[in-house]
Amino acid sequence: MANRLPVDQVTQPDGSTAWQRSPGGLVTALEPFIRGRNGAWVGWSGAPGEAPEPFEADGIRLVPVPLSAEEITRYYEGFSNASLWPLYHDVVERPQYHRSWWDTYVSVNEQFAARAAEVAGRDGVVWVHDYQLQLVPQMLRSLRPDLRIGFFLHIPFPPLELFMQLPGRRRIIEGLLGADLIGFQRPQAASNFLHLARTLCDLKPSQGRVAVDSRTVTARAFPISIDAKSYDELASSAEVGERAAEIRKELGNPDRVILGVDRLDYTKGIGVRLRAFYELLQDGKLTAPDTVLVQVATPSRERVEHYITMREEIERMVGHINGEFGSIAGPAVHYLHQSMPREELAALYRAADVMAVTPYRDGMNLVAKEYVAARGDLGGALVLSEFAGAAAEFKQAYLVNPHDINGVKDALARALFDPPADRKRRMRALRRHLFGHDLDHWAQSFFDALEAEASTSAGTS
Ligand code: ADP
Ligand code: F6P
Repeated sequence: MANRLPVDQVTQPDGSTAWQRSPGGLVTALEPFIRGRNGAWVGWSGAPGEAPEPFEADGIRLVPVPLSAEEITRYYEGFSNASLWPLYHDVVERPQYHRSWWDTYVSVNEQFAARAAEVAGRDGVVWVHDYQLQLVPQMLRSLRPDLRIGFFLHIPFPPLELFMQLPGRRRIIEGLLGADLIGFQRPQAASNFLHLARTLCDLKPSQGRVAVDSRTVTARAFPISIDAKSYDELASSAEVGERAAEIRKELGNPDRVILGVDRLDYTKGIGVRLRAFYELLQDGKLTAPDTVLVQVATPSRERVEHYITMREEIERMVGHINGEFGSIAGPAVHYLHQSMPREELAALYRAADVMAVTPYRDGMNLVAKEYVAARGDLGGALVLSEFAGAAAEFKQAYLVNPHDINGVKDALARALFDPPADRKRRMRALRRHLFGHDLDHWAQSFFDALEAEASTSAGTS
């Protein structure tokens, strides 16, 4: 179960409807995992109004949950993306709290739980995903005590000092405690959660586990990953290689290409890398269009105020840099506010000398993993924020503090100009880690732990 289905229902210019792939890392990770398994995916269709009947797409059974326009405003855009999202990402923007948003978050979580209770088989396993559905585990357990319930949070989980702001804070901890196993991206997130269970619910966690009624709940880190092998194969195909060469030609055959690929989100630090690039041009350490920055920004949450403002800021900055450093030969920054097919993204990864991933805070950041998977040629270099979950695994990336612009400039320059042998050595190490910790490894370790948890609880009850 996730807030979204892997496909979104969109209305086309002629008024007809069609399905297109949903944005974001959750779908990237879960779609290959669930395809071909005997499971169903419960989620919202991405459009307001009545839900379509359950249907099959690409070998996955999809069970849509309806959301009205008002529920989208209050539950999705409101409580999920204007309260929880900024709060869980270190308050990069100020969270807003409204009682009507919380009330709708509760009622929408009830609807999701009810739908899952209808479709899950007897003694089945339900895996609930992400911050939009944190109340579901407890609600579902009271409807269907026979189920085994796992929960995975794709985004960071904040420390007590921040979490305590949240109206409904105790309900959220209790909601999550309805699961048998709660997975986080980082160990620190699991310990933040257990600390809150102690403070708000008067429980006594010990060694990553906590007794709740007659059950035991485990909270642990399971860093998410990608289907590295299939990404590698795609990126090493002849078609993608040709397209990568074509992209460099279309960019005017620059000496160096820096790439950013993100949802257009204020947590991603897109402005940080634009600023660093701009200053490197001003300092004369780089010149354009010998070096260009390509920034792909997928449209995201376009009706939420923080996103509207940040889009204006980013686009103003791009215009400013291009006004000063672009020429008739071409711009310094190529900015694309659009979604792209996987093949085109893979070609961009192959074409880029440096990938810049500079979020202020990110649960994992799968773009960083895709870039590494795509560089079977051992070319390219990854500049990665210390505040992305991926940094805990990718120690050999050019790690940066995104709040320190000089540090980001320095890392970009090193990633661009270090000797090829050093860059290769780093990329080789990153790939070694990634291929040993891929999507299957993540899902399998979660399911093994869920299985072990269920047998322990059965033994204690
Ligand atoms: P988040 O979950 O916050 O969106 P991630 O980096 O974990 O961030 O995942 C983003 C996913 O979205 C990746 O799989 C990436 O390939 C995909 N993506 C990002 N930008 C685009 C784009 N412009 N077009 C298509 N897919 C994109
Ligand atoms: O984990 C981050 C997340 O919210 C996912 O739930 C989702 O895949 C992605 O970001 C995109 O967000 P949205 O579904 O709001 O477009």
